[in-house]
Amino acid sequence: MSVAQAHAFDAETRLANRKRAKAGRTVIFKIKRCDGPGKPDRWESFKVPTEPGSNVISCLKWIAAHPVTTDGQRTSPVVWDSGCLEEVCGACTMVINGRVRQSCSCLIDEYAPEEGDTLTLEPMSKFPVIRDLWVDRERMFQALRRVKAWVPIDGTYNLGPGPKESPEQQQTRYALSECMSCGCCLDACPQYLKEEDPKDWDTAFIGAAAISQVRLFNEHETGKRLKADRLEAMMGPGGVSDCGNAQNCVKVCPKGIPLTESIAAVGRSTTIHAFTRFFRGK
Ligand code: SF4
Ligand code: SF4
Ligand code: FES
Repeated sequence: MSVAQAHAFDAETRLANRKRAKAGRTVIFKIKRCDGPGKPDRWESFKVPTEPGSNVISCLKWIAAHPVTTDGQRTSPVVWDSGCLEEVCGACTMVINGRVRQSCSCLIDEYAPEEGDTLTLEPMSKFPVIRDLWVDRERMFQALRRVKAWVPIDGTYNLGPGPKESPEQQQTRYALSECMSCGCCLDACPQYLKEEDPKDWDTAFIGAAAISQVRLFNEHETGKRLKADRLEAMMGPGGVSDCGNAQNCVKVCPKGIPLTESIAAVGRSTTIHAFTRFFRGK
């Protein structure tokens, strides 16, 4: 299923499914499994009884306690990652019925309302698989280091009041600050390629999440002290000009972050920065 098709499965459909979901039904979980880095994939299916309010994580817990496939074979428990269980940490992100999203907030009633309906679970496609549905998102954190996504301060002593910021500025930055580094925007992006070798991470396309963080920290009154460094990183290989404007990222972001606005804003800033640098002869 393409990103566009997956999006056709919209909020209205999910609400309608929730209303007609049958109590006490069982659903089939078809899960893409992998025993470790470099090991081959395989698919296994599990029949899982549901309860009202079941989500993907609660069903994965049931499978961990009953690791027997639909054809009666005993297998190893399925491995996944999670932390907050309230769509804040991003750790549980996976591809569910073709759409990348958080599994802790994915209600079974919305996706599999009928007896015997199937849910397909796969790990994200752009990150190295550690095991089963658990992936290594270190490349995202490296990207944040690459663009210096922090506010520089001199020490831990009292620095006095910070610069003033208008409510409008705060509102703009608040939306950007909601990024939880889940990786959805990268998994859906055709320009963001799977790079297994960490030495390629600093030259491959950095992706929408880090670009949006550049905007967040460049618009911060203290954070903008590192603006030039961030824009230099954005002008380098794998920077903002590698974005193909497919806009998949903004469609899948669970926090509704205006990623395409951020990409356009950072694109404009890098152009101004390049002209300024040219005329200063630096
Ligand atoms: S707009 Fe850019 S970052 Fe977003 S999905 Fe398209 S290519 Fe990727
Ligand atoms: S921008 Fe959105 S989709 Fe991308 S990592 Fe942040 S929260 Fe996830
Ligand atoms: S467990 Fe943190 S977002 Fe799902």
